[in-house]
Amino acid sequence: MIKTIQEIIHTTPLDTQVVLSGWIRNKREGKEVIFLDLQDGSQQTPLQLVGDPRLIPAAIQRNLTTGASVRVHGLLRASQGRGQQHEVTIEKIELLGKADETYPLQPKRHTLDFLRSIKHLRFRTNTFRAIFRIRHQLSQAIHRFFDQRGFLYLHTPIITSADAEGAGDLFAVVADLGKGKEKRPFFGKPAYLTVSGQLAGEAGALGLGRIYTFAPTFRAENSNTTRHLAEFWMIEPEMAFCDLKGNIEVAEAFVQYLIKDILENCPQEIAFLSQQEKHKPNRPKIPLNERLAQISTQPFLRITYTEAIDLLKAHKGKKFQFPISTWGADLQTEHEQYLVHTLKRPVVVTDYPKGVKAFYMRQNDDNKTVAAMDVLLPGIGEIIGGSQREERYEKLIETMQAHGINPTDMAWYTDTRRYGSVPHSGFGLGLERMIQFITVMDNIRDVIPFPRTPGKAEA
Ligand code: 4AD
Ligand code: MG
Repeated sequence: MIKTIQEIIHTTPLDTQVVLSGWIRNKREGKEVIFLDLQDGSQQTPLQLVGDPRLIPAAIQRNLTTGASVRVHGLLRASQGRGQQHEVTIEKIELLGKADETYPLQPKRHTLDFLRSIKHLRFRTNTFRAIFRIRHQLSQAIHRFFDQRGFLYLHTPIITSADAEGAGDLFAVVADLGKGKEKRPFFGKPAYLTVSGQLAGEAGALGLGRIYTFAPTFRAENSNTTRHLAEFWMIEPEMAFCDLKGNIEVAEAFVQYLIKDILENCPQEIAFLSQQEKHKPNRPKIPLNERLAQISTQPFLRITYTEAIDLLKAHKGKKFQFPISTWGADLQTEHEQYLVHTLKRPVVVTDYPKGVKAFYMRQNDDNKTVAAMDVLLPGIGEIIGGSQREERYEKLIETMQAHGINPTDMAWYTDTRRYGSVPHSGFGLGLERMIQFITVMDNIRDVIPFPRTPGKAEA
């Protein structure tokens, strides 16, 4: 395989012959010299090619346009010009694929809205190259974090008959056996795309000790927001013999590890995204890498739901669309944003009213709250949701019934409490929200290759 630009720059000695391929980003041309910026997706900065246009056949030269793909043979040299350390002198250039004047990514600033209308081509822009390299790096760091701490990567099912979150926003799975064929439930009972791998993950942890899942999850919420997708990726660790406090410690260490990893391994991408912030109407005063470094080292603040409500009630002058009047209501995004904004750092809110949380959360002794925790990040709001799980068999049956779930329908789950039950905890981190936080992309649709949202499931 031929070397990528990244490999050439990092492993090839100067004044060596190289062969490289890529897409032309930009061309500057004079009578005696032609400059091409070449990108192949391997690193944020393009590689500059320098050539003598008189030595390039006219049929090729006229097709060296933005977006065209080429293979180049030449010499790697220290750059004569400013702005880059390396360049390659063109000795031979082959055209792989033309891109004529209808190519939508002509060199000028494109809005993210426009790029969303050509998702299949946006991988060729600087912004999306940065985002998807960070997405890749984060995925690797996630596996490394858990692997180093003795967690097993468990593949929980995508098709399930359990509504883990009890929210009811499910996509049904039906077998389409063709025209005229009888439509009977393939699995014997209704089945859905999973909203979370947690319940299966719990069963895994109650035997394997520490596990994590990293998989797509699906929610048919009809929320057209900049924070919701119908298909998103979630990372869900589950730990036996772990209480809420231990759960929060892992969540905090996890988020901070991921941010540090990106700062260390994607400096070019972060520098590029930081530069892009200049185009934002109210751009932050502190540069992105410094903001991220701060979050990755400062302890997160821990407050209870009840303390959060007191803080929200004490707010001065801030008008909420959903006014906080009574204890017991769920926190809305605007409340979460207000908390992280006024407390000026990541906040972990614990001990929510049992009425607003899922059936599997462990009931506290006050009979009113559950051992839940949400991690809130500045600018994003909720990034993690988790809890200590109800490990007491009788209590679990009680809460299932209170939530309208028939325990005999989920005997496999309650069995884990009948036999050798232990305290255990876990949480879920939304991958796309984490990428949004790091890349400061306002819209969640810009951090996943092909977003699925209400009304949209094409490429
Ligand atoms: O708070 P959630 O619903 O928690 C669970 O699913 C638990 N079963 C997790 C667990 O304890 N194992 O979702 C967890 C996280 C949220 O904090 C958010 O980051 C993300 O998943 N998330 C979404 N991301 C994008 N689009 C959506 N529609 C999302 N819903 C949740
Ligand atoms: Mg949640």
